[in-house]
Amino acid sequence: EVHVHLDRPSVELSPVLYGLFFEDINYAADGGLYAELVQNRSFEYYPLSNNRRLHPLSAWERVQRDGGTAKLAVVDEAPLNDKNTHYVNIALDGTGTAGIANSGFAGIVLEKDAKYDFSVYARRTEDADKAINVQLVKDDGSVLAEGSIDAVSAEWKKYELTLTASDDATKAKLVVTTTGGGVLSLDMVSLFPQETFKGRKNGMRKDLGQALAELNPKFLRFPGGCIAHGSGLANAYRWKDTVGDVAERKPNWNRWGYHQSYGLGYFEYMQLCEDIGATPLPVVPVGVACGFTRPFDKVPMEDLHIWVDDALDLIEFANGPVESEWGKLRAEMGHPEPFNLEYVCLGNEEHDTPEVRERFPYFVAAIRERYPDIKIVGTSGLGEGIPLYDLMTREQVYSSDEHYYMNPNWYLSNTRRFDSFDRNKPKIFVGEYASEGNSMFNAMAEAAYLTGIERNADIVDMTCYAPLLAKYNYTQWPKADLIWFDNTQVVRTPNYYVQQMFATNKGDVYLDNSVEMARNVVDKRYAGRVGIGTWLTTIEVESAKLNGKPLNFADWEVLGGDYDNTKSAYFQRDVRAEPAMSLAPESADGSKTVYEVRARKTGGEEGFLLAFGY
Ligand code: AHR
Repeated sequence: EVHVHLDRPSVELSPVLYGLFFEDINYAADGGLYAELVQNRSFEYYPLSNNRRLHPLSAWERVQRDGGTAKLAVVDEAPLNDKNTHYVNIALDGTGTAGIANSGFAGIVLEKDAKYDFSVYARRTEDADKAINVQLVKDDGSVLAEGSIDAVSAEWKKYELTLTASDDATKAKLVVTTTGGGVLSLDMVSLFPQETFKGRKNGMRKDLGQALAELNPKFLRFPGGCIAHGSGLANAYRWKDTVGDVAERKPNWNRWGYHQSYGLGYFEYMQLCEDIGATPLPVVPVGVACGFTRPFDKVPMEDLHIWVDDALDLIEFANGPVESEWGKLRAEMGHPEPFNLEYVCLGNEEHDTPEVRERFPYFVAAIRERYPDIKIVGTSGLGEGIPLYDLMTREQVYSSDEHYYMNPNWYLSNTRRFDSFDRNKPKIFVGEYASEGNSMFNAMAEAAYLTGIERNADIVDMTCYAPLLAKYNYTQWPKADLIWFDNTQVVRTPNYYVQQMFATNKGDVYLDNSVEMARNVVDKRYAGRVGIGTWLTTIEVESAKLNGKPLNFADWEVLGGDYDNTKSAYFQRDVRAEPAMSLAPESADGSKTVYEVRARKTGGEEGFLLAFGY
């Protein structure tokens, strides 16, 4: 039984209390949310130290038909541009048909009657008038869609066509072939379903976008996580590499063991925010890479201004007028209106090092000077100790981002974590948390923790679970993720429904409340006495009844503990599993004897009220 006191609001709940954290981990972006169906579309893959199997022709294979042969080579002479530097040369022998095929991310999914946008950059040394044939082929060899490009010029040029699938398929391939001789060069070979989330070009997978929207998030933290500051600075997330024409973005490797096309870049993230009704919360690196990686990489102080300027330019990209350098790019990309960026996250889960302490203040000072209205979200690191909170307090950031991945019991016993936080310090952003599992028990533990957060919503301003997405068989974070998916299915976990329930039903204020904590039915065999006690908590007993008749506390025999039995009983924490007070029943007539005790917790840690007969 829950008692909610409508007349006793305690704290206001932030309008942005519940949001999402997106990181490209577990193939969340390419092969996941980003709807591109071709893998390694611009031939930029290469072996990584944590994934040696990748190579420039990953997901590609040679096609030779009707006696035709071809040699494939990934090269970088005279590339499409200086950011997207590799492409494939198909050296044709002039007989039969030859080309290449892409199998997507373990198969391309096609839907009967759905339309697909194909595009490619191509050039050819000879036989320019020979057509390029484009097919979508099912794993049984049947052709589900076909189109052709009549001729290819000697210089790089983009070609596009629309294909309509004649049947469903889950393991289809995209096949691009030609006849004749010479060298056919291809780059940015792309296939997109026309039906994307909110119908965006270069958009998101519809079902996954929908699953995010249905969480009712009020903010979206992106792009990471560890990928924001990178394993080393070489793969730190530089937002400028991820905007503009997709063919001119500069792909990079991902610390989770794969490559990022950056087709889902900063513009798409901000557009996604609009599409799901969330405010953007970009994370910019603060001149240091991931604290777990050795050697620990940091920007030399004399170069730090470049990284600080990146942060300032990002704000201009999001909010600046169309006449400004970066506002102009936003407008050219199709969004002249500002994205109304309100927050910038500085750093991700930084370790407490002198290098962080030295660099962080420069970012704060520059943003504060140029954009005083932007709310700066700092970082206090990993674990319950929040090591950098003192620096965040000194820098007077708006809020500070703390992370923890703990077992469910930690969440259950930490619902009072924020009760004692100093309200004069920066607010807390719980920017990554999860209870190491997707069972119902995990979800309940997280829900319990959120009740503690709501009670402390005057200091905890924002929260988001992590990680958000995980592709089956492609995970680097296998224990717990909010949404699991493969190429065709989306699985919402119990943890998902907890997030959804809290976000959808968030109140404006927190109301004082109490619950019935114990109700014992004690039969005759044990009905010598009834006892009440506490374990590890402080409670106020509101009433106790025996067979429906109120018991008078003054009659109770006191056995120990700290209490006041003049009005109602008030118990301090007590670690004994013994009654603090006890009473002999008036009668034991052989029928069931029902003791009812109603109490509310008034402080202390999580513990129990004990009410029992003995
Ligand atoms: O959410 C997965 C990882 O956990 C994030 O990249 C990092 O911030 C944290 O350590």
